[in-house]
Amino acid sequence: MTDLVYLSIAIDGHIAVVTINRQDKLNALNLAVIKEIEQVFIGLSEDDDVRGIILTGEGKKAFVAGADIGELADLNRQTGRVQSKRGQRVFSLIENFSKPVVAAINGYALGGGLELALSCHLRVASRTARFGFPEVSLGIMPGFGGTVRLSRVIGLGRAIEMTLTGDMIGADKAEDFGLVSAVFGSDDFLSDAKDFLGRIIRHSPGAIQKALRSLYFAQDTRTVEALVMENDLFGQLSGSEDMREGISAFLEKRKPVFKGK
Ligand code: COA
Repeated sequence: MTDLVYLSIAIDGHIAVVTINRQDKLNALNLAVIKEIEQVFIGLSEDDDVRGIILTGEGKKAFVAGADIGELADLNRQTGRVQSKRGQRVFSLIENFSKPVVAAINGYALGGGLELALSCHLRVASRTARFGFPEVSLGIMPGFGGTVRLSRVIGLGRAIEMTLTGDMIGADKAEDFGLVSAVFGSDDFLSDAKDFLGRIIRHSPGAIQKALRSLYFAQDTRTVEALVMENDLFGQLSGSEDMREGISAFLEKRKPVFKGK
């Protein structure tokens, strides 16, 4: 991956920590940041050593404080659609990613920042994190998948309330809502986030990938078709090297060593 200006990647074991570095603008998503997110995720999809991703923002104040409001100022009907579509495409790339992606929310996750977090498979937060969709206060609405994904995670009633009031909620309420899986209060938030992801990536990569696929597929389709998909994916895993290893390890009372095969 070359020429990254706004993103950095740090590899720790099998985890890639992707950080958005635009601290002076609270890591707001301008076009260049969105393009780099796409580039980084495409690159990481090809790296077999990486089994999970943590996405976070630089500093302690913000995960991402939204789409770049300066860039929004010039939008018209046509360019607004193009911008929304680009954001939707990149965020769907994250949602469809074959390895688990955890948003480590270290401060404000507003507007496009909350939409970005919602496109990740899981979210964890620092105690100071704040969440909201302030778009209506700017005369717009979420356009990077937020009105689609928020209700799936916290339910329609809460999603309507957050989207129409524009009010922010704190980390504890976000945890109550199921918007985040855990809230960490320690000084080493990133280390806690890595431990959280570590509990996932110790399992078989193929099993994780196919389980995610089935869970998301079931969101968008009728039960009967979702069950066919689950059946097919279960069949694909059955007899795999990882399945044999997982079952042998259980029977031999040892920890499994999965190879992703
Ligand atoms: N787009 C572009 N710039 C942003 C931004 C955004 N979404 N959010 C913050 N910034 C910039 C500010 O303009 C400021 O830049 P400056 O120092 O050049 O003036 C810098 O980041 C720091 O923000 P500031 O507003 O001074 O911090 P604060 O602590 O007073 O307030 C927020 C923090 C998050 C409450 C406030 O920045 C805010 O409301 N941001 C916009 C959130 C939003 O509406 N997002 C949805 C966009 S669709």
